[in-house]
Amino acid sequence: MGILKQITLYIALCSSISSSSAFSLKNCTISTPLKDTQPKVLCYKMGFFSFPLIPTNTRILDISFNAFTQIQIGDFSHLSNLQDVNISNNKISQIQEGAFDSLSNLTHLNLASNRLKGISGGMLHGLTNLLVLGLDNNYIQDIEESAFSTLQNLKVLNLTKNHLCYIEKIKPVFASPYLEELYIGSNHFDAFNSYEMSTKPLSLKRLDFSNNPLATFHLTENIFPSLSHLDLSYCGQNGTMIWNVTEKTFFASVKTLYFMDVHMSAQNAANVLQSFKNLSNKIRLNGNVKLNKTNLLLNACSPVLKVVRLNANKIKHLTNHMFDPCSDLAELDLGDNEISELSPSMFRGFTQLKTLRLQINKLTRITNSFQMLFTLEFIDLSRNSIKTLTCKDFANLTQVKSLYLYSNKISVIDSCLFKDLKSLEVLKLGTNHLLRISDAFSNGPHSLLDLQLSFNKLSKIEKYAFRNVSQLNNLSLQDNQISEIEGHAFEGLNNLTSLLLSSNKISAKTLTRHQNVFSGMPNLKNLELQANSISFMDDQLKNPPFTDLKQLRVLSLHSQRRGIGKIPSNLLQGLSSLEMFYAGNTNLGHLNPDTFKFNPQLWFLELSKNALSEDNSIPAELFHPISGSNQTLILSRTQLRSLNFLLNANLSRLSTLRARGNEIDSINKTLIQSLPRLEVLDLEKNTFTCDCNNAFFIDWAKNINSTQVIYLNKYMCSYPPSLRGMSLSDFNTESCTLKTDFICFLCSSIVVILTLLSSFVWHFLRFQVVYAYYLFLAFLYNNKKKHNGSTFQYDAFISYNNEDESWVMEELIPKLEGEQGWRLCLHHRDFEPGRPIIDNIIDGIYSSRKTICLITRNYLKSNWCSSEVQVASFRLFDEQKDVLILVFLEDIPTHQLSPYHRMRKLVKKRTYLRGPKPGEDTKIFWQKLKMALEIKEGHNSDRGIL
Ligand SMILES: *[C@@H]1O[C@H](CO)[C@@H](O)[C@H](O)[C@H]1NC(C)=O
Ligand SMILES: *[C@@H]1O[C@H](CO)[C@@H](O)[C@H](O)[C@H]1NC(C)=O
Ligand SMILES: *[C@@H]1O[C@H](CO)[C@@H](O)[C@H](O)[C@H]1NC(C)=O
Ligand SMILES: *[C@@H]1O[C@H](CO)[C@@H](O)[C@H](O)[C@H]1NC(C)=O
Ligand SMILES: *[C@@H]1O[C@H](CO)[C@@H](O)[C@H](O)[C@H]1NC(C)=O
Repeated sequence: MGILKQITLYIALCSSISSSSAFSLKNCTISTPLKDTQPKVLCYKMGFFSFPLIPTNTRILDISFNAFTQIQIGDFSHLSNLQDVNISNNKISQIQEGAFDSLSNLTHLNLASNRLKGISGGMLHGLTNLLVLGLDNNYIQDIEESAFSTLQNLKVLNLTKNHLCYIEKIKPVFASPYLEELYIGSNHFDAFNSYEMSTKPLSLKRLDFSNNPLATFHLTENIFPSLSHLDLSYCGQNGTMIWNVTEKTFFASVKTLYFMDVHMSAQNAANVLQSFKNLSNKIRLNGNVKLNKTNLLLNACSPVLKVVRLNANKIKHLTNHMFDPCSDLAELDLGDNEISELSPSMFRGFTQLKTLRLQINKLTRITNSFQMLFTLEFIDLSRNSIKTLTCKDFANLTQVKSLYLYSNKISVIDSCLFKDLKSLEVLKLGTNHLLRISDAFSNGPHSLLDLQLSFNKLSKIEKYAFRNVSQLNNLSLQDNQISEIEGHAFEGLNNLTSLLLSSNKISAKTLTRHQNVFSGMPNLKNLELQANSISFMDDQLKNPPFTDLKQLRVLSLHSQRRGIGKIPSNLLQGLSSLEMFYAGNTNLGHLNPDTFKFNPQLWFLELSKNALSEDNSIPAELFHPISGSNQTLILSRTQLRSLNFLLNANLSRLSTLRARGNEIDSINKTLIQSLPRLEVLDLEKNTFTCDCNNAFFIDWAKNINSTQVIYLNKYMCSYPPSLRGMSLSDFNTESCTLKTDFICFLCSSIVVILTLLSSFVWHFLRFQVVYAYYLFLAFLYNNKKKHNGSTFQYDAFISYNNEDESWVMEELIPKLEGEQGWRLCLHHRDFEPGRPIIDNIIDGIYSSRKTICLITRNYLKSNWCSSEVQVASFRLFDEQKDVLILVFLEDIPTHQLSPYHRMRKLVKKRTYLRGPKPGEDTKIFWQKLKMALEIKEGHNSDRGIL
């Protein structure tokens, strides 16, 4: 029964292992796994055909871009905590009615880009808290009457790009009483009749009707009392849309009208714009409207209209009075046209213009055009062909906060240029032809916060170049040709937090030639120096370049063009606040153990794409000074063969370890145990060996709840060859655990069986066992004797039962000792007290020439006596000497000997003495005994005794 119990125990153990919930999801990742109480499960682009296993507490789920063809009732039944689901871009053509029944907490559902043909009555049933529903880009032609009846909270519905033809098909949607935004653009509606949509007022605020081949637009009831945004762009067919809005007040609340590229006659367009006299927000009027634009603007502009977008209209020339009707605009967008010239008086009429967009045109200069725009706050002149700027171009623009001049052909900046821009905060001068900036900013702008000078041709940063833009927070100088930075170049930038110097020609010399290259920026937090030509030969620098950057948190040195060679041990000296260090892709072969000696706050270390294959490339001591929490170590593609350096690295706070694309073949238990706080482990694309060395890792990775092993199911076996290409997680670790389990099982079974056996033996074969024991002792004794050589102490050992003691004392001893003169060994007389009896017996027998057994019924019953017989018969066998003399003091028939089969055997095979019967003459008996004792121990043929 013990074995049975064990077996059931093992079965229970096995099944409990395989049923525990897995954290490493197949092909899915969980973002922010532990800290977030709202786990976000990402499974997009994974080739799923059927629903993967998703943890039940998931709140946000993205399973877009897979190959699902349908959604069935069970798919979501256990996910009642879901709040946001993205199932877009699959091949779903069918959703079982009731599939979403359990999702009463769902607020966002995205089913876009699938193959749904219709929305049936129960398909969306149960989504009582749904706010946003995406059904765009499907094949929907039909929506059943009751489809939206349980969606009582729906606010946003996207039905863009479907196959809807008739506006009455939209009607069921308004069973959701609070619907605010409806997108039904890019369908096949050719007529809009308001009575087909609804007869009562709707709560809609935003209606997108763009891209429909509308031939008629009939609004006969006031069904849009709250509508503020209407998109009718790209509507109409062949310029023939009929516009019939019976009351001018129907669009009274519309603030924004998108009316781009509408196909209709000029007269009709004028009518349309008359309907929107209240436009107070913006109007987009661009595209190939076949109308006179001035005319259009006259119709559309009103004192309340604030925004006009005329972008992408192929406008070439702007006339002087063109904008006169629109003098109250706050924003004018003229971007993406073909404007090449501005006239000085063109914008004179604007009194409230704040934003002027002229990006993507063909301007080469500015010609004082903005002089009167005192209210301007934002000017976008990017992506033109401006070559030169004069000191008057931005005169008087004291309110401007942002000026975009990037992607032009500016090569010189005069220090007078920005002198009036007293409010300027953002200046973008990237992608120009600037060669020098030596005194460009010597007059400010003093309020500047962001200065972008990237993608120019600067080669040198002079001393004090930024002294008068001391408010600067961000300075970008990346993608220039900078090879020289003078000492104190950045002096005065007391507020600078980010300095970008990547992709230049900075070398180790640039950094160390002058002292104080990075001085004067006490608050710098982020310094980017990647993609330069920094490389070091020495283990130690004379002038470590970063010593003044006490607040620096992030330093990027990765991707140096010719490799960084080595990182000198004091390179990072002074960076006492450094938290993140990037040194990937720098041809680094070895790290000095002292590298981070000065950086106790470091927690993020990126060393990817280096050649760290040597055993001591990453010394464990490297990490000893680091004490930041949430440590992250990125070692992808570094030719690593093992992670064993982590064993002594004291990284017990490591929370993220990414080492994909290496040559790691196994992860052992000690390593895993040395990383108790690990949350994310990424070891994809390593050369795993699928054998029992990884058994612990595999089981751990499958079952651990506190660590997410990213894409565990994509880890492949590289060895042994027979398993190459198999997924590591499919490797059957049971055969490994079975081995130890099995051994345990075997051992315990053996113990059980032995116990059973021994109790069985003890019960039924006790005497045989005891006999064997004696034999063994006798054997030992005999060996000893043989070594010592033997002389006998006694002539005979007398074996008898206590019951027969009187006969021995009164008859035997006087006769044999007294008369015949033999020396006898008697246990009550000669045995050493305190010794084990069996030792005494063996001693007695072996130190006597003969053993005389006085056999009576009592004798046969007694244990000790029979053991004496046994030892003596062993001696007989062993020494092949005839030592045993059997004396039957009682008449015992042979059949009564049968329980004592050893005795019976003896009696059968040899002669024995019969004791004197009462009244018989004892002389013969004693004579026979004397003769028996006198016989020299000779060889004996009785070998069958044992
Ligand atoms: C996981 O994704 C890969 C491709 O990225 C795919 O071949 C494999 O079948 C996916 N596994 C599961 C379980 O869907
Ligand atoms: C919905 O969310 C609330 C809390 O946000 C929770 O108490 C409730 O159990 C959730 N309902 C379901 C069906 O999960
Ligand atoms: C509606 O769907 C269209 C087409 O897929 C998409 O471009 C648009 O951004 C969506 N609008 C909203 C508000 O979701
Ligand atoms: C629009 O015009 C094109 C050719 O100019 C014609 O093929 C098409 O049928 C017209 N569509 C309508 C709705 O009139
Ligand atoms: C506009 O519609 C109303 C009501 O359907 C109709 O009486 C009127 O004749 C229509 N006007 C035009 C110009 O089609």
